[in-house]
Amino acid sequence: MADRPAALFALGAQHLPDLYPPRSMHRLQRLVRVDQTVVAERFDTDDIRAALASTEFLITGWGCPPITADVLDAAPQLRAILHTAGSVKALLSPACWERGLAITSAAAANAVPVAEYTVAAILFAGKDVFRLRDQYHATRHFTLAEVRRGVGNYGRTIGVIGASRIGRRVIELLRPFDLEVCMFDPYVDAATAGELGVRLVDLDTLLRISDVVSVHAPANPQTDRLVGAEQLTLMRDGATLINTARGSLVDTDALIGHLEASRLYAVLDVTEPEPQPAGSPLWELPNVFLTPHIAGSHGNELARMGDCIIGELERILDGRPFAHAIAASDLDRVA
Ligand SMILES: NC(=O)c1ccc[n+]([C@@H]2O[C@H](COP(=O)([O-])OP(=O)(O)OC[C@H]3O[C@@H](n4cnc5c(N)ncnc54)[C@H](O)[C@@H]3O)[C@@H](O)[C@H]2O)c1
Repeated sequence: MADRPAALFALGAQHLPDLYPPRSMHRLQRLVRVDQTVVAERFDTDDIRAALASTEFLITGWGCPPITADVLDAAPQLRAILHTAGSVKALLSPACWERGLAITSAAAANAVPVAEYTVAAILFAGKDVFRLRDQYHATRHFTLAEVRRGVGNYGRTIGVIGASRIGRRVIELLRPFDLEVCMFDPYVDAATAGELGVRLVDLDTLLRISDVVSVHAPANPQTDRLVGAEQLTLMRDGATLINTARGSLVDTDALIGHLEASRLYAVLDVTEPEPQPAGSPLWELPNVFLTPHIAGSHGNELARMGDCIIGELERILDGRPFAHAIAASDLDRVA
């Protein structure tokens, strides 16, 4: 069907079967002419230059080289870039927006597993599961006296930092539970917080009143050590800090101090640096649940990102705007 517009994959070829398994590839190929055996892992080879000449839709993903003005010069028919992953910041040059290309990503789909991980962590933290599990394994014995006063997920306060895609999804997923949710986000007004069903507070208040604080803001100069040494001292004794955002948002050394003093708990999917050096206390401390940056999409979750991009392609071919369009003016405040 020659009437379908031409698309080109530009990503690490090893990711393609997981992002676009046969069922998705079939759906995609009904929309566009795309050759799954021609995958651009670099843009300077003759076959890729030839493919770029007629490409209208560039379907990118992890491992795609930067899309510079030079790459765009080689793709005069290009209408849109659809990124089958989260952030486009490291990938796209300003020229992509200057040339009026429509740009979208699967960050919304990638938010789903991060929010699921976070909600699991919130509920386990509330139930003191991490500590009780370790204690049970160490002693092979349990009495009800070991359950701390106040344990449980009835009436706890959860503080969400950032009404980001992930932050909002966490708020949505928490709705059926008997929890109070408060939120800090300088870009959100009280009316929006009301629609989300949460109480908008300043950062200090959030840290003071929350049993669990979960960090979901993007990493940028404004959020560097947003939860710094001073802020950590505001957290309640026995509270839990969850960070699935980026290590730079939290002062790691100051956090280690509170953890070594057994004052706080932490669930950390991201750290700075990542991984931590061999001697870091974060590897050993019993009140830390450390995971290797796995909250985002892996395994079968990758196909959700592919499906999200196919949905975006359907929209644009239908003459509708992308549901997850990324404007140049968004770049300062998004991940
Ligand atoms: N652990 C993982 O595997 C994983 C996967 C995906 C994303 N992430 C991280 O999760 C975080 C959220 O990602 P996202 O895609 O939901 O972000 P996003 O792009 O949707 O976030 C943008 C929003 O964050 C809020 N925000 C901006 N600056 C803020 C500030 N100073 N304080 C509070 N809120 C602020 C604003 O509402 C803004 O609109 C990012 O740090 C991202 O890098 C981690």
